[in-house]
Amino acid sequence: MILQIQNLEEYQQVYQRSVADPEAFWAEMADSFVWKKKWDRVLDWDFRTPKVEWFSGGQLNITENCLDRHLESRGDQVAILWEPNDPEGETVRYTYRELHAAVCRAANALKANGIGKGDRVCFYMPMVPELAIAVLACARIGAIHSVVFAGFSATALADRVKDATCKMIICSDYNSRGAKNIPVKKVVDEAMDMGCDSVTRVIVHRNTGGEVAWNDRVDRWWHEEVDGQSSDCPAETMEAEDELFILYTSGSTGKPKGVVHTCGGYMVYTCFSFKNVFQYQDGDVYWCTADIGWITGHSYIVYGPLLAGATTLMFEGVPTFPDAGRFWQICEKHQVNQFYTAPTAIRALMARGDEWVEKYDLSSLKVIGSGGEPINEEAWNWYNEKVGKGQAPIVDTWWQTETGGIMITPLPGITDTKPCFAAYPMPGIQPVLMNADGQEIEGNDVEGLLCIKFPWPSMIRTTWGDHDRCRNVYFSAFADKYFTGDGARRDAEGRLRIIGRVDDVINVSGHRMGTAEVENAINQHGHVVESAVVGYPHDIKGQGIYAYVIADRTDAEPLRREILEVVTKEIGPIAKPDKIQIVPGLPKTRSGKIMRRILRKIASGDTGNLGDVSTLLNPEVVEAVKEGAV
Ligand code: PRX
Repeated sequence: MILQIQNLEEYQQVYQRSVADPEAFWAEMADSFVWKKKWDRVLDWDFRTPKVEWFSGGQLNITENCLDRHLESRGDQVAILWEPNDPEGETVRYTYRELHAAVCRAANALKANGIGKGDRVCFYMPMVPELAIAVLACARIGAIHSVVFAGFSATALADRVKDATCKMIICSDYNSRGAKNIPVKKVVDEAMDMGCDSVTRVIVHRNTGGEVAWNDRVDRWWHEEVDGQSSDCPAETMEAEDELFILYTSGSTGKPKGVVHTCGGYMVYTCFSFKNVFQYQDGDVYWCTADIGWITGHSYIVYGPLLAGATTLMFEGVPTFPDAGRFWQICEKHQVNQFYTAPTAIRALMARGDEWVEKYDLSSLKVIGSGGEPINEEAWNWYNEKVGKGQAPIVDTWWQTETGGIMITPLPGITDTKPCFAAYPMPGIQPVLMNADGQEIEGNDVEGLLCIKFPWPSMIRTTWGDHDRCRNVYFSAFADKYFTGDGARRDAEGRLRIIGRVDDVINVSGHRMGTAEVENAINQHGHVVESAVVGYPHDIKGQGIYAYVIADRTDAEPLRREILEVVTKEIGPIAKPDKIQIVPGLPKTRSGKIMRRILRKIASGDTGNLGDVSTLLNPEVVEAVKEGAV
């Protein structure tokens, strides 16, 4: 079994060792997995290209490590514990043995439908067990999965399908979410009409059983394709650096990019980080409330926990249905030991009052986690007192889609915790703070741009189809360093606090959103002349979306409604601006660049000191924008 750090002294020792000789350290960690062939070299790297190769020459299949490896020792242990949206509905349990068989059947169905090694399969599905099963089925046969969060629009889905030239889409008929029954297949049909020519099959999982339109040429039912298949499917031999999956994420410019993760390093790091960050012990029930459509779900619902032989809970619904006690009711019902959620959910539940959390017995909780966005002190304290009862340590985990796994976090019961501090690097992770001139800022009580100066096994390898973009976005700002896009502070004792993005990316309810992406969507409206989008502090969402819009129409209310519709159509409801201000102009520099700094200040209500605006091309619009602020 992979190393599980037990105390502070061991953490310090392991950390030192991992930095002094990373190759020896990671080779030792990798040794606890099943390899079909051992690697020739632990690490080859050059951040200038960038080229990062871990365990090259090694061959494996990640599903053998998630499933087959556990059959003998824990075949009858529950692997996936699924809690439906409807609290009266039936809990579904897959033991490791059952999950293995289900994954093999699905893998055989994929093969029967023409999918093989290297093919891309897109997922557009709610949080049902079949999503995890089919993702693993792809990995079983060496197909590359690209999961798209089922809240994205048909346009966003089509963009992603086309970018990765996916051969298949796997979806559900409907998504049962809170009180709603949301059409899913219909969105896929719309996406298919947008020129997804590479797709030859759409596999539809019958979830709620509602009516769906059918295209005999491409559509097939999951149960008809999967149920009769053999429960034996040999695991494809994969090179350590073969692609495992693509996951699209937003950046500061242009379209979302497909972050690529590979088999060997991702396996080693997600398992190692899962075991240590959550201090998972045999028999525990672990629950991460994320959606598999995001990296958190990939690494800490599916791969990390299954690699570690854990029981991982998967929840179909939302935190507030049927009421604001749902999370805590599930924790009590399944005696959850490790609970991992996002600050947005904590803030939303905190706002509903303490009675919901006090109604349930949460004494089983040993570790509670937070991640995806900065957690404010009030939410941290509430989480600590009301959920953790001052007993279960909070792990505030900082990481990114690109990092594949948790990078900076306290280790529960091992290192100390401090509100809002992700605190300490994981073994093997070497964070540095840089100034704008490209120098490393040493010492404590300092602030800078967060970079990582040495490779780690689960780091991004490329952006799908555009390696230059990967270099430009992450490896060109600072020589020989991976730049995270975040700013951070190091306190007097050396703990790290993540401040937030320093680029034009905003974090709305833990979802990453490029301001340029939202602007592009708004600009699709025929009467919008120009727009500028910024983030502003929002009590529940962390950041809200504030859009300034120049239009050639004056009926503000209908225009706002139409803009919301356009954004919903182009990206999805998660990108809808919270505030839209129709403005006569946007403050610009003489070279024509929008002065976002001023717009950010106005959006956050901080109009007292906007700085010197006299050098602007159009200083007069600043007053008008200020006056019309919503
Ligand atoms: O700004 C940081 C913020 O979320 C970004 C990464 O988002 P995403 O790729 O969606 O990955 C989510 C995986 C957790 C980061 O650049 N972020 C993530 N975790 C934290 C955080 N900000 C503050 N504290 C955190 N714990």
